[in-house]
Amino acid sequence: MEIVVSGIRPTGNLHLGNYFGAVKSFVELQKEYNCFFFIADWHSLTTHLQPENIRRSVKTILAEYLACGIDPEKATIYIQSDVREVAELYLYLNMNAGIGELMRTTSFKEKARQQLRISNTDASIEKEIFNENNKHSVNAGLLTYPTLMCADIIIHKAVKVPVGKDQEQNMEMARRFARRFNATYHTELFPEPASFHLSNKALKVPGLDGSGKMGKSEGNAIYLIDDEKTIRKKVMKAVSDAGPTEPNSEKPEAIQNLFTLMEIVSAKDTYDFFNDKYNNCEIRYGDMKKQLAEDINLFCAPIREKINDILADEVYLDKVARLGAEKASESAAKTLKEVREIIGFRP
Ligand code: ADP
Ligand code: TRP
Repeated sequence: MEIVVSGIRPTGNLHLGNYFGAVKSFVELQKEYNCFFFIADWHSLTTHLQPENIRRSVKTILAEYLACGIDPEKATIYIQSDVREVAELYLYLNMNAGIGELMRTTSFKEKARQQLRISNTDASIEKEIFNENNKHSVNAGLLTYPTLMCADIIIHKAVKVPVGKDQEQNMEMARRFARRFNATYHTELFPEPASFHLSNKALKVPGLDGSGKMGKSEGNAIYLIDDEKTIRKKVMKAVSDAGPTEPNSEKPEAIQNLFTLMEIVSAKDTYDFFNDKYNNCEIRYGDMKKQLAEDINLFCAPIREKINDILADEVYLDKVARLGAEKASESAAKTLKEVREIIGFRP
């Protein structure tokens, strides 16, 4: 059976972007593949350092995975830090990764700028990293984020990785490091992992603020746990405009984003109805947003209820995490034995 791996960092609650970009595929794939879904708590240390938060967030994501329908009887659900072999594989992969290629990745550059407190237009990151007078620094874990992600994936020899569009560069790096390991040690131990998307196209769920993707750190997200009132408030506040004046005109980004959300959560008829209104210049965004909020709530309500029930059941959560740790460690230990032997260490 083909192997599937994916993970999400425990940096807050899951939102619609996480669900439609990733978790929905997890739920589908578990039916047919040998799936490993984990909570990337080590990765969250690259940006979020407080342990109390991590513990709470790990529990939250675990409950949300389960509430979305990931089934611990079908898939292996685990916490990254419960599988220490991942850290060892990460060490080996780091020996074979170049600082330059890691520094050139877009997400490193973005997050490094934040950590160094320099803006997009400011001096180069390299200059600031070497600047002894800048009291802020970039942590080395952030630089090696892609090698840790590669370790997560290849430790189970995964071939499919369900992720959203924003992970394409990390996936490219994961493939490169897997290939490089094979080439360096003249082996075919690791298959090349590919991104997986349910609809064959990488999905980017837009935010409600007119531009860009929905994200935890962007402050524009609708969370699966949001109640009806919160959802309505967020949607009604979404950016729109005065409406088109010419029939069939192209949609500005903010409006396109509303339609994209509607396409994702509403029935096709509903989408077509508002799309026709737009094309006839009869659209009333107030009505459209009301409908969108209602449909989002219809989608979230059953998941929300389950999250709250599962969160209250500590014993069950603990059981799931323990079972997952056991199964994932078994698979990881097998790979690590082979890796150590190939490199020349005692297996
Ligand atoms: P965030 O960007 O909110 O911090 P993560 O980086 O933890 O979320 O992403 C977890 C998973 O959800 C990844 O597979 C990512 O590609 C996917 N994802 C996150 N935001 C979106 C989005 N707006 N559209 C599609 N997929 C997304
Ligand atoms: N980088 C991913 C994100 O930000 C999280 C992640 C870590 C991941 N390791 C992974 C995703 C392995 C897929 C496979 O969303």
